[in-house]
Amino acid sequence: MSDAVTLRVTEAVGRVTDPELRRPLSELDMVRGVAVTPDRVEVSIALTIVGCPAANRIEADVRAAAEGAAEGRAVAVEVGVMTPAERQALTERLRGPAKRNPFGADSLTRVIAVTSGKGGVGKSTLTANLAVALARRGLKVGLVDADVHGFSIPQLLGLVDGDEVASPTQLGDMILPPIAHEVKTISIGMFLKQSDGSNPGAVMWRGPMLHRTLQQFLTDVFFGDLDVLLLDMPPGTGDIAISAGHLLPGAEVIVVTTPQAAASDVAIRSGLVARQVGQRVIGVVENMSAMVMPDGSTMDLFGSGGGAEVSAALGDGAPLLGSVPLSPALRADGDHGTPVVIAHPTDPAAQAITAIAERIATSGRGLTARSLPFTTR
Ligand SMILES: Nc1ncnc2c1ncn2[C@@H]1O[C@H](COP(=O)(O)OP(=O)(O)OP(=O)(O)O)[C@@H](O)[C@H]1O
Ligand SMILES: [Mg+2]
Repeated sequence: MSDAVTLRVTEAVGRVTDPELRRPLSELDMVRGVAVTPDRVEVSIALTIVGCPAANRIEADVRAAAEGAAEGRAVAVEVGVMTPAERQALTERLRGPAKRNPFGADSLTRVIAVTSGKGGVGKSTLTANLAVALARRGLKVGLVDADVHGFSIPQLLGLVDGDEVASPTQLGDMILPPIAHEVKTISIGMFLKQSDGSNPGAVMWRGPMLHRTLQQFLTDVFFGDLDVLLLDMPPGTGDIAISAGHLLPGAEVIVVTTPQAAASDVAIRSGLVARQVGQRVIGVVENMSAMVMPDGSTMDLFGSGGGAEVSAALGDGAPLLGSVPLSPALRADGDHGTPVVIAHPTDPAAQAITAIAERIATSGRGLTARSLPFTTR
């Protein structure tokens, strides 16, 4: 009788998932024991680290799972911590014995970099919204904020509380990305705390450090199996764009432009640089297009036609994926950390972005432009 209860409690508790690792506790070796007496069930679990931010949630979920299977017995949950050796074993099991960049040429994850020539055209806002929209379609999505100098992703996804940026949990030498709106997210902004706890909020690094940062984001951060990894690129065609080309040779690129002719010229250049480093431009998004005013008239603050122009200049395979209108709601929701596709899904900008996400998700990764892993004579 109690054997059957022990089995059921063990199974129920084992199915609880760790909110950071997104795996069941049974798979993570976190359930240490289940003891059943006629009137009591005792469950002991081992967390990855002391003060693990997810501790309360895991404990509550374990308690609820155990109570559901305890047939009226009182439930006690004992929470312990893994030893360093157990933690190391766990990181190796999750990631494999050696650190490596799982998004290299043979990656099964689609990697999509969002780029532009000019600053301020809405790359970060679009990246955050596309990530959330893709996650809402049920895809497993990661987001790397590759704009080291001008990071803005934590704010856009609500990972900032006052001056505090969410900090990733460290598991041995592995970094667990905070999850916002179901998107696993990493940004340099999460690592800038000084010893007094203040956040200097600025980085002055040049090429090699930028390269190492991007490399570390790709190798040390545990994203697990992802369907899509999005990269929010800094403006322009500088060091990070070249590093991304080396580190993510299979990446697809979306070029963002405003409708203005002056913006399209530089946007075309950013698309050409992406191609030069071996990446494939899969489309163009025009942002800040004409807005429909309450009286039905339209206002095209930034002119029109830029997206079509960039698409035409980049040629085959770089269609205009969509035009996102100027939207006060999109701006305000970004400032408040809840992307417009969630906060105001019927807003015209949200609908345009959701349609672009749909187009990306259903287009699949095109392999035509990828080089074959052998040479021909
Ligand atoms: N469609 C839009 N309607 C209204 N405001 C927008 C729209 N797209 C972006 N914005 C606003 O424009 C500003 C710049 O956007 P964002 O930071 O996303 O651009 P960016 O290209 O990432 O900039 P940077 O090059 O500095 O990284 C933000 O304040 C954002 O809220
Ligand atoms: Mg940006």
